[in-house]
Amino acid sequence: MTLEEILSKDLLEKADIVRLLATQGEEMRLLLKKAMETKFARLDNHVHLRGLIEMSNVCRKSCLYCGVRSGNAKVERYTLTDDEVVECAKLAHKLGYGSVAIQSGERNDREFTDRITRILHRIKAIDNGALGITLSLGEQTPEVYRQWFEAGAHRYLLRIESSTEELYYKIHPHDERHDFHQRLACIDSLLDIGYQTGTGVMVGLPFQTLDNLADDLLFFKGKDVAMVGMGPYIPHPDTPLYQYADQIPSVEERMNLTLKMIAILRLMMPEINMVAATANQTIDPMGREKAIMAGANVIMPNLTPNEYREDYLIYPDKACVGDKPEECFSCLDIRMKAIGHDILYNAWGDSVAFTKKNEKNQYN
Ligand code: 5AD
Ligand code: FES
Repeated sequence: MTLEEILSKDLLEKADIVRLLATQGEEMRLLLKKAMETKFARLDNHVHLRGLIEMSNVCRKSCLYCGVRSGNAKVERYTLTDDEVVECAKLAHKLGYGSVAIQSGERNDREFTDRITRILHRIKAIDNGALGITLSLGEQTPEVYRQWFEAGAHRYLLRIESSTEELYYKIHPHDERHDFHQRLACIDSLLDIGYQTGTGVMVGLPFQTLDNLADDLLFFKGKDVAMVGMGPYIPHPDTPLYQYADQIPSVEERMNLTLKMIAILRLMMPEINMVAATANQTIDPMGREKAIMAGANVIMPNLTPNEYREDYLIYPDKACVGDKPEECFSCLDIRMKAIGHDILYNAWGDSVAFTKKNEKNQYN
């Protein structure tokens, strides 16, 4: 089959996806072009913002790739106060971001989970529920997920990291805190509760094959998720996985592979929300723009107070760490206009795929 024939198929099969992931040069360019056309046709040239609040780097987990893993004693641990989190949300509202995303290392204790509920109520009270709220707080019980949903969170991000069990255990310790099936169960429970559920993977991990990546895309489609975040893996020197840093694809290859993943998924799931992850910009100054041009439609500008950002280095040299929120604000607007996109201010920017699915369920 020619590339054109594959690109015009309604349903991509695994062999097609692997073939598309292997494209280079002109073929890759055609793939990205087709993905952008699909995005413009279905979602227009709109970009949605989520003001990112990195609430705490205290984490009970020890993922082998992550710079803030509990085993990394070099990290100074911090936790924002309730007031600081709410102030960040107010700033998001003032800047017209429309939505916030609260992210934190994983904690399951009652003090933490109840605290999140209190914060959710306070953010919901800002201008009568003006802000959309995404949570990214790891694995929790269905009861906790439900408690937060009822308190006003309506989106949740939990990356599967890899949908291949074997690879999952190469990048995580194999113990009860890092259980592949538990993570899958969490995603199912989020979908079941009614969250706009987001998941995703890192691209260019040691041991990862094109076959694994194709399975990841089929996994997203199979779960019919509303949002996906994919970014290049960036080796962190203070992590166990760093020992394989010489075995991963080059920076350029990881960037291109990420762009191809985004583009193929845009063809497979034309109306989901896809984020141009900060990791893209970290390995390439134009990485975020490239991800948007390949089919992504969401950006998460950082709102964490600058004094804490150095301590939330999941990977080294994270982009924008020194920039003030107001600087990111105007920077982003200009950057998006330069590539023919419009940021939609003061909107929640829900996933069109999710909204349509919900409407259909109501009429059935
Ligand atoms: N490189 C790139 N992405 C990373 N993440 C964690 N560590 C790294 C790294 N070294 C991603 C994971 C996690 C998200 C918060 O950040 O996918 O889910
Ligand atoms: Fe798992 Fe940080 S230790 S994401």
